[in-house]
Amino acid sequence: MERTEKTTAKKTGGRMAKTPVKKTVEKEITPEIRVDPKKKILFVASEAAPFIATGGLAEVIGSLSKALAKNERYDVRVILPLYQDIRKDYRKDFRFIGNLFVPLSWRNQYCGIFEYVKDNVTFYFVDNEYYFKRPGCYGYYDDGERFAFFCRSVLEILGFIGFYPDVMHCHDWQAALAALYLKTIYCFRPEYQFIRAVFTIHNIEYQGKYSLDILEDLFGISNGFRNLVEYDRCINLMKGAIECCERFTTVSPTYAAEIKDPYYAHGLDPIIRRNEFKLTGILNGIDPEYYDPATDAALFANYSAADPSGKAVCKEELQRMLNLPVRKDTPIIAMISRLVSHKGLDLVREVIEQVLRQDVQFVLLGTGESQYENYFNDLARRYSGKVVSVISFNSDLSRKIYSGADIFLMPSKSEPCGLSQMIASRYGTVAVVRETGGLKDSITPYGAGGNGFTFANYDAYDMLYVVNEAIEVYKDQKEWAKLVKKAMETDFSWGTSAKSYEGLYLEMLK
Ligand code: GLC
Repeated sequence: MERTEKTTAKKTGGRMAKTPVKKTVEKEITPEIRVDPKKKILFVASEAAPFIATGGLAEVIGSLSKALAKNERYDVRVILPLYQDIRKDYRKDFRFIGNLFVPLSWRNQYCGIFEYVKDNVTFYFVDNEYYFKRPGCYGYYDDGERFAFFCRSVLEILGFIGFYPDVMHCHDWQAALAALYLKTIYCFRPEYQFIRAVFTIHNIEYQGKYSLDILEDLFGISNGFRNLVEYDRCINLMKGAIECCERFTTVSPTYAAEIKDPYYAHGLDPIIRRNEFKLTGILNGIDPEYYDPATDAALFANYSAADPSGKAVCKEELQRMLNLPVRKDTPIIAMISRLVSHKGLDLVREVIEQVLRQDVQFVLLGTGESQYENYFNDLARRYSGKVVSVISFNSDLSRKIYSGADIFLMPSKSEPCGLSQMIASRYGTVAVVRETGGLKDSITPYGAGGNGFTFANYDAYDMLYVVNEAIEVYKDQKEWAKLVKKAMETDFSWGTSAKSYEGLYLEMLK
C-alpha cells in the first residue's frame, strides 16, 4: 500500500494522489462536465398557433418555437395569456401548476399558471378571468392594463417555476413591457441579472401608445424611467422595448431596411435609425408539416410537387362549392387577406374590373374595414358567376382556396413578412406580389427564373401589368406547370431562419 502511494506521488509531481480507481472515475465524468448546458429560451407573446390565432404572429410563435426546440441544445418555452377562446381540444389537457399574486402598481392580482407540452416546447398560460375571460384577444378599452398584467406575470412566474432564461424573446407591443420590467425592476435581482432580451417587431404599425400620465399608476413604471418609453409626448411601448433590449429584430431583411424610412415606420424611424446597430431582419418561415398539400385533411384531394394531379380536383371542387362555373382552363385569381388599406386593396379596387374583362375568376376571403367588405360584396353581386367574396375568417376554406386557385394576389403597400404568399406557393398557387418587406424576400420574378410575379412601385397599372403577364403565362400550360413546380419546391421552412435566430442568441450570450 505504502509503495503504491509513493509511486503515484512521484508521477503526480509530489501531490498525494488517490488510487488508480479514482483516476478511472475522473475520466468518466470529464465528458459530462464539458457538455454545455441547454440554452434556455423564453418566448413572450400574445398569441400562438394552434392554441389561439388572429394572424401571422401566432403562426410564427407556434412554428419558430417548434423549429428551435428540434435542436436539443435548447430548452424552449412560450408564455401566453389564457384567453377564453383558447381551443377547447387543447385546453382540456392543460395542467394547473399553481398560482401567485402579481404586483402591478397599487394592484395585486391573481395569476394562475397552466402548463402544456407540445412538440418539445413547454407552453405556459397565464390565467386571470377578469383580464382574459372575454371573446377575442384585443380591442378592449383596458388592453394596456391587460398586457401590463400579462408581462408583469411573466417575470413573476419565472421565479415561481425556477426557470430563468438565457434569452427572453418578446414579440410585438403586447410583450414589450416584459422587457421593460426586466430592465427596470427585475435585473437588480441576482437570478434575473443575466437574462438577455430580444424584441421582434412583427408590424411597426401597432406600437402600444398610451397617455404619459398613466406610466406609474397603470404600468407600474417609475417616472425615473420615463425617458425609456416616452416618444412624441406619449408612452410608446414598442419604442421602450427597442431602447432597452440587447437586440431587436424584424421579420424580413427588406422590412428591416424599410423601417428606417418614414414611409414605412409610422413615426418610429428616428428610433430605428438610432438603434440600427442592434437590428437584424430575419425572414419568417412556415411549418412545412402544418401546411402540406400532400397530407392536408382540409383539401378536396392531396397532391405534391412530384405528383400535382390532385390540384385539378381541388380547383374543380372549389368552383363547385363557390357556385362558379366549373372550367379548368379559366385561371382563378385569389386573395386571402385582412381587409385593411396596407394590403394594397386600393390598387385592386382601381384595376380589378380591367382584369375581369378577361376569362378569369376572382375569389376573395377575408374580413376587415367595412369600406372594403362592402366593395367586394358589391363586386361579387355585379360579377356574379365570376367573382366570389366571402367575408369571414375561415381556416378550412382558406386551405381550399390556397389549393384550388391558380394565382395568388398580394399587392401590399407594406408587408413586414407575409405568410400567405409562402403558403400559396407551397400549394402550387403562383404569387403575384409587390416588392416590399418579406414579399420581396420570398417571391422572385418569373422573368428572372423566379417562383412568381412581382412589381416594384405601388401603382395600380404596374400591378395590372404583372397580373396580365401571369394570365398570359397561364395560357401556356406546359410553362405554367413548370412555374407551379418551382413555386411548390421553394424552401419556405424555418431551416435557415431558425439558424439565424440561434446565431443571434449565441452572439448575445457571448
Ligand atoms: C404581422 C405582419 C406580417 C407577418 C406576421 C408574422 O402580422 O403584418 O407581415 O408575416 O406578423 O411575423
